[in-house]
Amino acid sequence: MRAADIASDLTDVLVTEEQIHTRLDEVAAQVAADYDGKDLVLVGVLKGAVMVMADFARALPTLVPMDWMAVSSYGASTKSSGVVQIRKDLDTDLHGKHVLIVEDIIDSGLTLSWLLENFASRGAASIEVFALLRKPEAAKVVIDCKYVGFDIPNDFVVGYGLDYAEKYRNLRDVAVLAPHVYS
Ligand code: XMP
Ligand code: MG
Repeated sequence: MRAADIASDLTDVLVTEEQIHTRLDEVAAQVAADYDGKDLVLVGVLKGAVMVMADFARALPTLVPMDWMAVSSYGASTKSSGVVQIRKDLDTDLHGKHVLIVEDIIDSGLTLSWLLENFASRGAASIEVFALLRKPEAAKVVIDCKYVGFDIPNDFVVGYGLDYAEKYRNLRDVAVLAPHVYS
C-alpha cells in the first residue's frame, strides 16, 4: 500500500511510536523492580503483541524468557465474539513461574478473561497482565490488569501489531481505522 492510501484509511494517530517507547521504558522499570529475583516468563499473545513484546522485552534490564500463545476470537471483524480458540499453545511449563502476559489491547476483555482462567490451572506462582492499550468504555468483563500502557477511546485502532484483516500491523504508530474501511 502506498503512503497516501494508508493515510486515507486512518483518522487520528492516537499514540505515536515515540510515546510508546517512552511508556515501555517506564513499565519495564516498574516490572524489573516488581520481579527482582523472581523467575519471570513473558507470554505474548500472537499476533497482535509481537511488536510490544519485542520492544518491551528489550527495555528490560535482565534476561527473560519469552513464550507465545496464539488465540483467536475475532476473524476479519472488529468485534470480539467471546469464543476463544487456541491456535498455538505454550511450549513452557508454567509450574512455579511468575507469568506476565503481554497483550496488545484489552477491548471487551473477553479474550483475556478466558486466557486468565485457562492459565490458572497451569500451576504458575503468579499471573499478571501488561496490556499496551486498554479501552475502558468497551469493557464487558473486568480484567485485573497490573500494567497498562495507555487508556484509549472506544475506537477500532490499528498499527504497532494491531491489524484489520491482517493489514496495518507494521505501522509504527497506533491510529484509528477510518470507519469507511470496515463498514
Ligand atoms: P477483547 O475484546 O477480547 O479483544 O478484549 C481481544 C483481541 O482483539 C483484538 N482487538 C483489536 N485489534 N484493533 C485491533 O486491531 C482494535 O481496536 C482491537 N480491539 C481488540 C486484539 O488482538 C485483542 O487482543
Ligand atoms: Mg491480542
